[in-house]
Amino acid sequence: MDYKILMEKAMEASKNAYVPYSKFPVGACVLTENDKIYTGCNFENASYGLTICAERNAIGSAITDNERKIKAIAIYSPNKENCYPCGACRQVLFEFKSQDGVVIILKNGDELALHKIEDLLPGGFSL
Ligand code: THU
Repeated sequence: MDYKILMEKAMEASKNAYVPYSKFPVGACVLTENDKIYTGCNFENASYGLTICAERNAIGSAITDNERKIKAIAIYSPNKENCYPCGACRQVLFEFKSQDGVVIILKNGDELALHKIEDLLPGGFSL
């Protein structure tokens, strides 16, 4: 799978973000172990704490389709280069990562930076 395609899908998903409060759109695209692809955008609420991040929205769609292992997730915001996942999303990614699962970030306009999911949450909590 070409990671650029995942990033393009994350970009496309960010266009549907519902962000009247932060005005900070984010899109995410998950690739699972069975080579299935799921996208998500963030959506906010007047009760601010109910906001759902793009990453967890995309992961939720994968889980709903019974896909449990994430090989890669691309994350994009038009507002910020290097849009890394928040702490909560790192913990959720940690739960569903496959071995060597990676987070893909856009850098310097069109470069992709890859990070192993486990490197973004050293000592991540699990039961
Ligand atoms: N947000 C995401 O969707 N993913 C992240 O990893 C960081 C933050 C959203 C939440 C909120 O709608 C907006 O970005 C500003 O925090």
